[in-house]
Amino acid sequence: MQTLTVDLGDRSYPILIGPGLLRQPDAWRACIPGRQVLVVSNETVAPLYLEATLRALAGLQVETVVLPDGEQYKTLAVLEQVFDRLLRARFDRGCTLLALGGGVIGDMTGFAAACYQRGVSFVQVPTTLLAQVDSSVGGKTGVNHALGKNMIGAFHQPRVVIADTDTLNTLPDRELAAGLAEVIKYGLIRDLPFLDWIEAHLDALLAREPQALAQAIQRSCQDKADIVGRDERESGERALLNLGHTFGHAIETGSGYGNWLHGEAVAAGTMMALDLSARLGWLGAAELGRVQRLFERARLPVAPPAGLGADDFLNLMAVDKKASEGRIRLVLLEGLGNAVVRGDTPPALLRATLDACCR
Ligand code: NAD
Ligand code: GLY
Repeated sequence: MQTLTVDLGDRSYPILIGPGLLRQPDAWRACIPGRQVLVVSNETVAPLYLEATLRALAGLQVETVVLPDGEQYKTLAVLEQVFDRLLRARFDRGCTLLALGGGVIGDMTGFAAACYQRGVSFVQVPTTLLAQVDSSVGGKTGVNHALGKNMIGAFHQPRVVIADTDTLNTLPDRELAAGLAEVIKYGLIRDLPFLDWIEAHLDALLAREPQALAQAIQRSCQDKADIVGRDERESGERALLNLGHTFGHAIETGSGYGNWLHGEAVAAGTMMALDLSARLGWLGAAELGRVQRLFERARLPVAPPAGLGADDFLNLMAVDKKASEGRIRLVLLEGLGNAVVRGDTPPALLRATLDACCR
């Protein structure tokens, strides 16, 4: 087991990474305060891992709620089921919510924990690669709105992140690839040696070689923990983690939640951000080609879906959380491994990128 720390003063917490962690509660039970635990999962993950989770929590007062599976259920309406269960079970302010699932369950559970009785503890047990390398770390929680992705939410840090790498054995190939999009993101924004490493180990990652996966998760979490430790509330540097996300969120919202996976939208969105960076003269054709080849090898899309046009993108991107005073702020690359946030992109260049990328 490897242990990293997200350093946030008295709200610091460990990220535990390793095989079989769900069956080793001694490694993490002490991170759960109180005796009441609500396990939140979904109808896909619960049959796989709920029993092991309940065994690990033996001796505590444990309730469970199993939500429908899918990004389209990441809504306030579905979250009501969590609050109903908490209130019916008379859980008090000392309770803990445990998220057992991918990023959808993690984001929803964390938001429920932020809201219930104005804030209770929560624990992340991420079971997708995407959740283990990104969404379970850093305390961004929330739900979607029909008009915008992740638009209702709160910052609320977990007490511990338990990344049991054995859970990735049951993950569909398409979901594994979606997680790799966020792994590649860390290389692109700040960690060129990691990008080289990903290129060299991509086949091992796709073949789910445990050592390669563990290394990718550890390095991704370290990159994210460093950034979150310096900028928890995204007043600056943390926005760099959103490379490809402004275009990607527009793809997810515009194509209907659940049709494109988050990681797939991030991959196509990243290629759009790189196209724009190239138009600004910051990247060359060779660098663009290098990144496109890596996404393609990872079986990820490199262009948005056919039905979305340039005007759709402009409308959807105006709702992005990084938009400020009507201006779209974008994460761009001033060279591979060097991300910047810019709010002054010439509209004509953005339009040119959208026209070129939208089919
Ligand atoms: P997801 O939660 O929908 O999980 C993907 C699919 O895999 C689902 O069908 C799920 O039931 C299934 N699944 C989960 N674990 C499994 C396992 N071990 N075996 C078999 N099937 C399994 O999607 P995701 O990619 O994990 O997360 C995407 C979500 O995360 C999006 O809503 C995105 O907005 C959010 N996100 C949040 C942050 C953050 O910082 N909070 C960062 C990135 C993404
Ligand atoms: N996934 C972006 C962030 O956590 O800030």
